[in-house]
Amino acid sequence: MKQLWLFNQINSDLQRVEKELHLFIETDFPVLEESAVHLLDAGGKRLRPAFALLAGKFYGYPFERLLPVAMALELIHMATLVHDDVVDASETRRGRPTVKAKWGNVVSIATGDYLLARSLELLAEIDDPEVSRILAEVSVEMSKGEIQQIKASFDVNQNLKQYYYRINRKTALLIEASCKLGAIVSDAPKRQIWALGRYGHDIGMAFQIVDDLLDVTAEAKQLGKPVGGDLQQGIMTLPMILAIERSPQKERLVYLLGKEDKSDQDIAEAIQMIKSSGAIEESLRYVDLYINKAKTYLLELPNVPTRKALADLAQFIRDRRF
Ligand code: IPE
Ligand code: IPE
Ligand code: MG
Ligand code: MG
Repeated sequence: MKQLWLFNQINSDLQRVEKELHLFIETDFPVLEESAVHLLDAGGKRLRPAFALLAGKFYGYPFERLLPVAMALELIHMATLVHDDVVDASETRRGRPTVKAKWGNVVSIATGDYLLARSLELLAEIDDPEVSRILAEVSVEMSKGEIQQIKASFDVNQNLKQYYYRINRKTALLIEASCKLGAIVSDAPKRQIWALGRYGHDIGMAFQIVDDLLDVTAEAKQLGKPVGGDLQQGIMTLPMILAIERSPQKERLVYLLGKEDKSDQDIAEAIQMIKSSGAIEESLRYVDLYINKAKTYLLELPNVPTRKALADLAQFIRDRRF
């Protein structure tokens, strides 16, 4: 699997995570194994395991303790992706057909449950109840984020507070947990666990805003998943909320965004209106606020090369195209 250049410091260990995940998701039930392996083999950025390992780098790097945490994080993430693709009716993910597209909704639900259950097994082996407590809490909040998203879909009157509620739960909390847990199992000082958590949280918020921007601006081929999916599903993202405020043709935009069963032409028109309203540039300014804030927390951490790697990672997240 191609690895991000940013992960130089932990490349060989990420490969070990990869290998262990492979062995770990094997099961005697062929369909479950095939669907789980299908998603795992498709790659993905492995951001969450990488954040956990990088956090551990500051504190002696106890790799054998970090390994199950890194694996559990990717498993939880993968479980949410498989379920999310059912909710969003998405046909591609990581450049491949989704589990939903290949095996259908029922198998997808079972596969997501399976991945989540396997993560529980890993957590049970970690001799720190704080780790399971944090991941249990995050998983509960993630469910709330998904449900709020379903309930709020096609509601064109949403405010930023609702949007933040959602992206915090859908995405930021798990990235926050990845950074924190890497530090916790490495016995980091309390203040630095906190700082890594804040860094992860703000990076996570930026990450989801960028994901929402890419849904409007990216190339599907490069992104590895559909573009315009949020528009089609009526998910009101930051660029849409800002575009409604700013667009000179507000009524038309509100009509298009609130319309169920949009045609390709409706989507193209809405994308054009969002782009010309300046909402993309303004959303990027929100991203920058989070990225810059995230970087300030890094100053609390030891000044070792990993600190620079985390700062570069923040920049990557701003500029990513996939
Ligand atoms: C996708 O996450 C879901 C979001 C939180 C936006 P990633 O973009 O990290 O997905 P992979 O793991 O690289 O495929
Ligand atoms: C990510 O939100 C939420 C989770 C997978 C938990 P999206 O719905 O934007 O993710 P993508 O765009 O499908 O990857
Ligand atoms: Mg989705
Ligand atoms: Mg998305």
